[in-house]
Amino acid sequence: MNLQLDQDGRLRHFLTVEGLPPALLTQILDTAESFSSVIGKSVKKVPLLRGRTVMNLFFEASTRTRTTFELAAKRLSADVINLDISTSSAVKGESLLDTLWTLEAMQCDMFVVRHRDSGAAHFIARHVRPGVSVINAGDGRHAHPTQAMLDMFTIRQHKGDFAPLVVAIVGDILHSRVARSQIHALNALGVAEVRVIGPRTLLPRDIDDLGARVFYDMRSGLRDVDVVCMLRLQRERMEGALLPSEAEFFRRYGLTEDKLALAKPDAIVMHPGPINRGVEIDSAVADGPRSVILPQVTNGIAVRMAVMSLAMQATGEAA
Ligand code: CP
Repeated sequence: MNLQLDQDGRLRHFLTVEGLPPALLTQILDTAESFSSVIGKSVKKVPLLRGRTVMNLFFEASTRTRTTFELAAKRLSADVINLDISTSSAVKGESLLDTLWTLEAMQCDMFVVRHRDSGAAHFIARHVRPGVSVINAGDGRHAHPTQAMLDMFTIRQHKGDFAPLVVAIVGDILHSRVARSQIHALNALGVAEVRVIGPRTLLPRDIDDLGARVFYDMRSGLRDVDVVCMLRLQRERMEGALLPSEAEFFRRYGLTEDKLALAKPDAIVMHPGPINRGVEIDSAVADGPRSVILPQVTNGIAVRMAVMSLAMQATGEAA
């Protein structure tokens, strides 16, 4: 049985895109669509999570994910606690499970978790009581499912149908939880082709098995693509020297206007952020007319509202 789904196939936890039915991914996108109109109103709240408590547990740094989860929960009328891990009892040696059970004792309904260890969100989901939902906000290099879904939402917003699209994911694929989640989502939603572009040292060995075509040369890989997803160089996860220098990386794999000219004329440029200007992307592209990097951030609110409200529907009845 899929840990993420209840017995009726509804989303209970959102831990990874991998293995979820395409219809459920479409349901998340459609639900987010309805919330994106709420976000544009002067009163931006709906009462779907009124009386519920959401706890944000970020054991790793974040700007976009943490704040958009907080905003999403508040727009759904939930009570939100942002636990400051650096001043919590975790620094006194309290284990993850003891922290979890302590917070659960306060009648929390949902944990949003970011952790440096791959599998941390699954671990927590296996130990919470039936009425509690766990949302993965990024675990190690494993998965970042809500990022992938806001990326899919942004692609659908600009391109409509997924079926004819060729999507390139460029850069540090090896350390990227975003890339892994994007590849699963793009294939589940039926795009024509997923390409990954990067140096051999930054591509995982099993990348073909995930359903992506590999390019080591960026100019070949970008030819006629509809969507370019750039990735951050994740120095914090690199062990040893995987790159000659950032300047050499930018020369070969940095997105510049001349490289972008090889993509389709209406291709969009995405990046999950935070961006490293002059390392993986030139400012002229990041701030240019084809960049949808800031709309991705905005869409994160509606997509996270959708995931939280769907998960609460399932767990609400189990509680
Ligand atoms: N995309 C993303 O996860 O950004 P943050 O690290 O700022 O949350």
